[in-house]
Amino acid sequence: MVTRAKRISTPQIRARKGGEPIVSLTAYTTQMARLLDPHCDLLLVGDSLGMVIYGFESTLSVTLDMMIAHGAAVVRGAERSCVIVDLPFGSYQESPVQAFQSAARIMAETGCAGVKLEGGEEMAETARFLTQRGIPVCAHVGLMPQAVNVAGGFKATGRTEEDARKVTADAQAMAEAGAFAVVLEGVMEPVAAAITAELAVPTIGIGASPACDGQVLVSDDVFGLFSDFTPRFVRRYANLGEQISAAAAEYAQDVRARRFPAPEHCFIPKAR
Ligand code: KIV
Repeated sequence: MVTRAKRISTPQIRARKGGEPIVSLTAYTTQMARLLDPHCDLLLVGDSLGMVIYGFESTLSVTLDMMIAHGAAVVRGAERSCVIVDLPFGSYQESPVQAFQSAARIMAETGCAGVKLEGGEEMAETARFLTQRGIPVCAHVGLMPQAVNVAGGFKATGRTEEDARKVTADAQAMAEAGAFAVVLEGVMEPVAAAITAELAVPTIGIGASPACDGQVLVSDDVFGLFSDFTPRFVRRYANLGEQISAAAAEYAQDVRARRFPAPEHCFIPKAR
């Protein structure tokens, strides 16, 4: 059993405002958490798992039980990173009490350090309700995938003055409500930089700005495991999908040609 004391806490993430950039990636499994943990400060069990792991078209079909199962798996694999789990669509928007009940289950059943929820001014009361009751909240504003049907697609925001004012007000409202960090997704660069300069808590950018206090990406995008589409803000650092496909093809050829298994893979009785 890993001791919690070794893990980076949400106040430590909060204290990184204006300091060394916060390194964050998504993780959904124990093995991926083990691989990423030495390199990251924050592992996000994002509801993006609905699209990259389960093949859903959006994150809307992700359930609380899925988030709990994957959150617990990631906590088991992480020794030092702060692990944050997304509240999925429908598990918190109804009321602060519903949000508390969902978040409390996530905290108790996974052992994670806090939850992330999408929303700005309209979710500030909920963020305050949670933080005042012992649940650290990471906010997520800008492009909010759970609102894809209202927004009419996955679109960056902050293009017009009105949009820029809205996303700024959203980030400020969540920080004032007690969020320890704010994810800025798909926000025009100058707007994200200005929000970062104004906010008292760290911003973690994804398609936002190098000025953000940290960066997060979906690990399957980074490692070339998910290629249904690649947002322009992704930098791919590996092509594991191609490597897996080539390895599977080689394995298939070996099995069909009876080159695998070889004698060293078999339990052969020793000659007496
Ligand atoms: O669900 C997710 O992976 C996220 C990140 C993209 C920030 O919310």
